[in-house]
Amino acid sequence: RPSSVSSARAVHKNSHAKRLINEAIVSNDFLKKLEPQHMREMVDCMYEKVFSEGQLVIQEGEAGNYLYVLAEGLLEVIQNGKLLGEMRPGTAFGELAILYNCKRTATVKAVLQSHIWALERQTFQTIMMRTTQARHEEY
Ligand code: CMP
Repeated sequence: RPSSVSSARAVHKNSHAKRLINEAIVSNDFLKKLEPQHMREMVDCMYEKVFSEGQLVIQEGEAGNYLYVLAEGLLEVIQNGKLLGEMRPGTAFGELAILYNCKRTATVKAVLQSHIWALERQTFQTIMMRTTQARHEEY
């Protein structure tokens, strides 16, 4: 197997955290189209980051390196300086730049200190490859 395949590592989390992440993924219009096995591996490989009040999680126009799920806290979404809305716990975001390889379409800012599950782009790609590869190996 290529060495890149070993970069997706599981990070221990409790069943409440796993459920929150999974529900966020299946509630997202883009991520819900992924295969269940891919979703399970994404849940397993996410790790926690803490953002302080006022900190930017995502900056509009930049390249995207993470897919996120808000666990705790409150975020706002801003585009061209205009407030588009708020995000509450159980929301997946940052999926557009990861899935479609585009620049970040909006800025996401922590209104309160926020605990956010993050999945690296490289890990996402590894997961997509690994499962496909495992399936090919069955034949
Ligand atoms: P991405 O473009 O990777 O980074 C910014 C994220 O903000 C984007 O993915 C979506 O997850 C989210 N986002 C973009 N536009 C909106 C919107 N109009 N309302 C809520 N969330 C949005």
